Amino acid sequence: MAVAKLGVVYTPRDVAAQIVERTLAPLVAGKAGDEILALRVCDFAIGEGAFLVEIVRYLAAAHGGRDAKRLVAQHCVCGADIDPAAVATARAAVEAFAGGPVPHLRIGDSLALEWDRFDAVVGNPPYIRQEKLSPATKQALRGYASYDGVADLYVYFLELAHRLAREGGRFGVIVPAKWLTAAYARPLRAWLARERSVEAIVEAPGAFPDHDAFPCIVYGERGADHARSEGAEPWHTDDHADAQILARWATLPTLGEALVPSRGVVTGCNRAFVIAGATRARILDDDPGCAPLIRPFVKGRDLRRWRAAHDDRFLLMCDRGIALPPAIERHLAPLRTDLEPGTGRKPGTYKWYELQDPIGALAKSTEARLFYQDIQTAPACALDTTGLVPDTTVWILGTGDRFLLAVLNSKLYGWYARRRFPPALNGAVRPKREYVAKLPLARPAAGLRARICELAQLQLSSPTPARDRELDALICEAYGVSGNLIV
Ligand SMILES: C[S@@+](CC[C@H](N)C(=O)[O-])C[C@H]1O[C@@H](n2cnc3c(N)ncnc32)[C@H](O)[C@@H]1O
Repeated sequence: MAVAKLGVVYTPRDVAAQIVERTLAPLVAGKAGDEILALRVCDFAIGEGAFLVEIVRYLAAAHGGRDAKRLVAQHCVCGADIDPAAVATARAAVEAFAGGPVPHLRIGDSLALEWDRFDAVVGNPPYIRQEKLSPATKQALRGYASYDGVADLYVYFLELAHRLAREGGRFGVIVPAKWLTAAYARPLRAWLARERSVEAIVEAPGAFPDHDAFPCIVYGERGADHARSEGAEPWHTDDHADAQILARWATLPTLGEALVPSRGVVTGCNRAFVIAGATRARILDDDPGCAPLIRPFVKGRDLRRWRAAHDDRFLLMCDRGIALPPAIERHLAPLRTDLEPGTGRKPGTYKWYELQDPIGALAKSTEARLFYQDIQTAPACALDTTGLVPDTTVWILGTGDRFLLAVLNSKLYGWYARRRFPPALNGAVRPKREYVAKLPLARPAAGLRARICELAQLQLSSPTPARDRELDALICEAYGVSGNLIV
């Protein structure tokens, strides 16, 4: 696998074949050989020619005549790539496969080239983050309906796939699934929703085995009438049963109506502000009055279901405007150069001995709160009533509600999170504020709610797997779904 500045991740053959087949099947159905040779199919980022070879293979099989591969390569296969070496490699690959020339390959920037319309467009466009795009490129991209100053380059290729298809023409492209939810793809989603051309979105998590992209394949037909009610809002790829469950929950109140998740503390220099128990003891020997300024500190990785596991780690709570006790100053002073704003840490108006960002009210609260990790591999929500201070890898909710605690530790929550939260590596999800805010909160009858809270309370002191299973079933009951669906 080669990942270079041109956004190159070549497409495995089986993935290209699958996309070519699904995109072209409706176009070849019932067609005679000469009609098949009249089709024009374009790959706008041909790379090593993985798609081109599959186009030849598929159309030649549909044609079925003598010399079909050579004829298809000559008449049907079109494409471009900005990289001359890629075009040469692709040309050689198709020629070797088809046994004849491929005259309709071009070198150039597909987003600028003058194009004809095609019967179908397939491809795996370059994924290039906006920071890497030149100002001239960005300026040129302003002409796209999906323009957004921070959009990745693939966003424009997805729009291009639609634009290059003739009326009734089809497209099938593999792109990162991020466009389904990312803010930078709002204009793209709004535009595609208006065009009503997207027929299916198929998540393809294993498509690039060596690469940490989360791709999806977008199939469409220009001039079709596939409504997307989400418009610019995040799009989802639920199957029918899931969509029905989620639609039923649409009338429930959401977490965001009652609570605003808040992040833990950013020190800007953990070496200075995060100390072990032995250092804490030394500072307190020096000045016992410092005790309220030294609080147990937890990270996302310390969180377990129900409770956090506090390690030997404490935070010097040097919030904005603090009167710095000499005992703490003596600890921080040797690191002063590393702590100065603008040189050691992020520029700002804070003092060298203060934490980089002001401490949020929920982070320093000693009231009951719920904590969960910013990257979750499984549901894990911890209740804290002991005044733990979390770091920035933890989200905090200002409530000790045992029902919500049980929900956030349930299989049902995990099921929801996999369908609604942005994905992270290895099947994990990122429960960002705006997504968690939309979590529907069931309103069970008082008796069921009380039972769930009672079991959650028992899990806090002595958790058992059997009680977890009982809670999973009760949470499903509260949400009105069969536990079998939530696996
Ligand atoms: C992700 S690779 C995909 C290659 C090919 N579709 C395949 O599956 O093997 C992306 C390709 O886009 C090309 N590329 C990057 N920017 C381009 C642009 N503006 N116009 C055309 N091709 C571009 C790169 O040279 C690279 O070959």
